[in-house]
Amino acid sequence: MPYYIGLMSGTSLDGVDGVLIEMGTHEAEMKQLAASYVPFTSDVRASLFALQFSGFDEIHRVAQAANQLVLVYAECVLHLLKNTGLYPGQITAIGVHGQTVRHRPEFGYTVQINNPALLAELTEIDVIADFRSRDIAAGGQGAPLVPAFHRSVFGKLNETRVVVNIGGISNISILRSDGATRGFDTGPGNVFMDGWIMQHKSQKYDNNGDWARHGHINESLLAHLKDEPFFQKLPPKSTGRDLFHAEWLVGKLNLFSQVSPVDVQATLCALTAQTITDAINAYASDVSHVYICGGGANNSTLTDLIHSLLNGAGKSVSVESTEVLGVSPNHVEALAFAWLAYRHTERLAGNLPEVTGAAGDRILGALYPH
Ligand SMILES: Nc1ncnc2c1ncn2[C@@H]1O[C@H](COP(=O)(O)OP(=O)(O)O)[C@@H](O)[C@H]1O
Ligand SMILES: [Mg+2]
Repeated sequence: MPYYIGLMSGTSLDGVDGVLIEMGTHEAEMKQLAASYVPFTSDVRASLFALQFSGFDEIHRVAQAANQLVLVYAECVLHLLKNTGLYPGQITAIGVHGQTVRHRPEFGYTVQINNPALLAELTEIDVIADFRSRDIAAGGQGAPLVPAFHRSVFGKLNETRVVVNIGGISNISILRSDGATRGFDTGPGNVFMDGWIMQHKSQKYDNNGDWARHGHINESLLAHLKDEPFFQKLPPKSTGRDLFHAEWLVGKLNLFSQVSPVDVQATLCALTAQTITDAINAYASDVSHVYICGGGANNSTLTDLIHSLLNGAGKSVSVESTEVLGVSPNHVEALAFAWLAYRHTERLAGNLPEVTGAAGDRILGALYPH
């Protein structure tokens, strides 16, 4: 049976998640054999972060950062091979996302910096990269791409499920009981909570949401944060740090300097929770099972809030981690890129036009043979 590796580094800029899978005869039978996580050093993170905005000599800095990033990818691949005892010649392909530095589908492009040629050279494995551009070329958003994978592994006939992926940005997949699928980005996931706790407590993230839990949600600040056209926009839609960057928050907080840092954190947590649940209520109000994945699944203040927001007015909606479906929430996106590598290899479409808005099914990614 063929083996694939998936590598994901998302908007949180926390590090690289990798998985090694064995693909079964049917793709629902794919089996995860190993997982590895390599956090970015502060140097790598700083150079990737600095590229989220234009600046001096950025073409050179992009190329250098891509080379640094690929060393982290290669280290992650090495761990996966070691953990499984497999050797490079046994792996059909690596599916690698790259690091998004610009996502502007409205201008016809998205940029994930990467050096897949170097990764193929270092690992001696075929590399498939740049999964988003083809969908955008076909008029789509190029994102989110995970709903097709969610459909494949988490979809269930006769039951409507929603999968919520809470990375730096959040996206939802609505998997209807009849097989129909929708999905879109809902807005910020962890991006503002991470930035705020770094600014005030020098921590990378709010572990378990413990700091946010100690604060009070400031309702007028929350309303001001929610006053953002993206939240009202109809799908297909996708976003990133291009919109939800530090200055967006600074601008929003201008009139709220009297709100204490801990209350701001609680309110940012509520912003993430409410924009997710507003999207679920608007497009899947009949759902009874919600599954959470991405790093935000580890923030119980956030997931408790999502649970309570979905369970008002006599409703009964279960909110659980994808762990209950047998997939660790931290591995879902990397698994999706292993799956996308498989789809490319088999010359099968990787996008869902009804999600991204593309003109049709497209084979995603570009192959760099080793
Ligand atoms: N124990 C935890 N408590 C709270 N938040 C966490 C925890 N672990 C991870 N996270 C959050 O998840 C983020 C990483 O999630 P991830 O799914 O990798 O996002 P991305 O795809 O954007 O990289 C971290 O930046 C952090 O905000
Ligand atoms: Mg990550």
